[in-house]
Amino acid sequence: MIDKNSPLPIYHQLEEVIKNAIQTQRLLPGEMIPSEREYTEKYEISRMTVRQAVTNLVNEGYLYRKRGVGTFVAHQKIEQPLKGLTSFSEDMQSRGHEPSTRVIRLSEVHADRDLAAKLEVEAGTPILELKRVRLADQLPMAYETVYLSKALSRGLTEEMALTSIYGYVEKTFGLKIQYGRQSIEASIAQKIEAEMLGVAVGDPVLRIERISRLDTNKPFEVAHSVYRADRYKLTIEMERSS
Ligand code: GLP
Repeated sequence: MIDKNSPLPIYHQLEEVIKNAIQTQRLLPGEMIPSEREYTEKYEISRMTVRQAVTNLVNEGYLYRKRGVGTFVAHQKIEQPLKGLTSFSEDMQSRGHEPSTRVIRLSEVHADRDLAAKLEVEAGTPILELKRVRLADQLPMAYETVYLSKALSRGLTEEMALTSIYGYVEKTFGLKIQYGRQSIEASIAQKIEAEMLGVAVGDPVLRIERISRLDTNKPFEVAHSVYRADRYKLTIEMERSS
C-alpha cells in the first residue's frame, strides 16, 4: 500500500508494491504490468511518479519495455558459477530448467589459422562447425558456434546436436572432457545474433569463448557463445589470499 504521509518517496513505495507483486508471483515473468493510468487511478498518484517507479525497475532489470506495447515482468537471471566445466544441458538441468536446442546448421568447414592453432590441427584441416540456439524453458539463452575436430565428433548429426554434445561424445566414444579455458566479454548483439536470441540489435550480451580439452589434453572444441545478458549472470566464490 502507499502511504502519502510516509517520509519514503511515493515512487519508491510504488517500486516496492510492484516488486512485491513479482516476488509473490501475482505478476509473472513475461506478463504485462498494469498501465500507468491504472496505477495513477488506483493509488491516486501522478503519472510522473508512476513513470519514475517503472523506469527505476526497468533500470534494475525487474521489468522491460516493449515499444508501443507495454511494460513486462523480466525473467529471473540464471546464475552460472565461474567454476567447473559443465555443459549447457547440465547447467540448465541442475537449476530446474528444461534445456532445448535449435540446430541452425551443422557443416564441414576448413580450419583457418586461428581455429587450427586452437584445435591443434593443421590449417585447412576439415572440421565441423555447429551453430545452435540454446533455450531454457523455451526461452532463448545463448547462440553458440562450436568447432570440433572431426576425429572427436564422428557420426555427429543434426539430430544428435539437438541434445547434449558433451553427453554424445562422452557416452558414444567413452571420452572424458576434462579441462576448459574460457574468456567472457561484455558486448552487444549483432544482427544475426539478435534474430537468434529474440533481442534487439545492440542489446547487451556476454561473448564467451571456450576451449575445452579431453583428459588426454587434446583440444575437443572451440566454442563461441553469445549469451543474453538479461538472462544470465556469472557468479564467483572468492577467498582473500593472505
Ligand atoms: C556450453 C559451452 C559450450 C559447450 C556446450 C555443450 O554451452 N559454452 O562450449 O559446447 O556447453 O553443451 P551441450 O553438451 O548441452 O551440448
